[in-house]
Amino acid sequence: MNDLALLLTPEGRALLDEVRDTEPARELAVATRLRRDHPAELVSAALGQARLRQRAVAKFGPEDAGRMFFTPNGVEQSTRASVAAYRAGRLKELGVARVADLCCGIGGDAIALARAGIRVLAVDRDPLTAAVARANAEALGLAGLIEVREADVTEVDTAGYDAVFVDPARRGGPSRGAARGASVRGGGRATGGRVFDPEAYSPPLSWAIGTALQAPRAALKIAPGIPHEVVPAAAEAEWISDGGDVKEAVLWFGTGAPGAVRATLLPGPRTLLGRGLPDPGVRPVGRYLYEPDGAVIRAHLVAEVAEEVGGGLLDPTIAYVTTDEARPTPYATGYEITDRLPFNVKKLKALLREREVGTLTVKKRGSAVEPEELRRKVRPQGPNAATVFLTRVAGAPTMLIGRPLG
Ligand SMILES: C[S@@+](CC[C@H](N)C(=O)[O-])C[C@H]1O[C@@H](n2cnc3c(N)ncnc32)[C@H](O)[C@@H]1O
Repeated sequence: MNDLALLLTPEGRALLDEVRDTEPARELAVATRLRRDHPAELVSAALGQARLRQRAVAKFGPEDAGRMFFTPNGVEQSTRASVAAYRAGRLKELGVARVADLCCGIGGDAIALARAGIRVLAVDRDPLTAAVARANAEALGLAGLIEVREADVTEVDTAGYDAVFVDPARRGGPSRGAARGASVRGGGRATGGRVFDPEAYSPPLSWAIGTALQAPRAALKIAPGIPHEVVPAAAEAEWISDGGDVKEAVLWFGTGAPGAVRATLLPGPRTLLGRGLPDPGVRPVGRYLYEPDGAVIRAHLVAEVAEEVGGGLLDPTIAYVTTDEARPTPYATGYEITDRLPFNVKKLKALLREREVGTLTVKKRGSAVEPEELRRKVRPQGPNAATVFLTRVAGAPTMLIGRPLG
């Protein structure tokens, strides 16, 4: 019996409940005690799974993560629930009732799609991963909406589905023969490095695009660093961030907006639509500085934000926007600039001492300085907080000191 099958027995489930909050430091003692009453293999499987569940909390929240099953690669590669729910909501709004989730992994997206009321065919070629996806559908009471199939997606007929969703493997995931001996224990980290070449995705992006073009609607999840030139003319491209961190890009097909570009910020969602504005001009440093959200920058929508706040760039190659007036926008974080200095650590140290700044946030664009090293050198001390931007102003290395707008 493999680890997952062991964990799905009544004894396995009970043991999983018992070890759920085990701290890493206590694992050995807990394992020794439990091995008196349970098979060693089951004890290791349960402790390993508990560790994976703890790692999955950040993506799925404590309640779902505490009921779901994971593999190390599965946790790493799955979509976080907030992003999956947003995308599923968009597909639902587009009238999708049946979707083929091609490359379902442990089911992160399939779960969100089913929760949006969409019937899902969830396909993964890795036997253990498919089994975990099936266990997750059952654990969350969604088995009636999710059919899991162990197959190569390139051999699946998607005719009859309203939409396809593809989330290709971008890191060294489980390979075809790796299923035997594969594990649901949390000991190892996901193997392999990130794959940046979209043709090295599994399946390749060109296959996913070809499949998307044949479906009534489609969404392809891709790495946010994807070059804009790779986006097909028929697709709408959306960059998504959550809590200020860029999570992914999505190529949408069949939304009626080919060529559109948008940046969506979660929670919210707040969506900024591209209007094809030319690059914003450079202007002198004003009283305020706006740092656009990462999704806005990746989507190349800094000009749209600059227009919204009535500002210009500090430097033609750097995505900091400066203005004379404070205008709130959800798409950028605003700061009031109190000081401007040429880059000089001694001067910064003296200024921070004079202002009694003990909490220094270092932000940088267009500077090679390491924030930690700078903080070590200036040794901030005192009750006040400040932010320093290490950047270039009209080509010159510059430090702008400020504080976030309320
Ligand atoms: C990025 S993960 C999917 C994560 C999933 N969306 C989630 O949120 O949990 C990609 C998955 O694609 C699977 N995969 C890669 N190539 C495949 C192929 N040709 N056919 C079926 N599955 C494949 C891998 O086994 C892996 O589980």
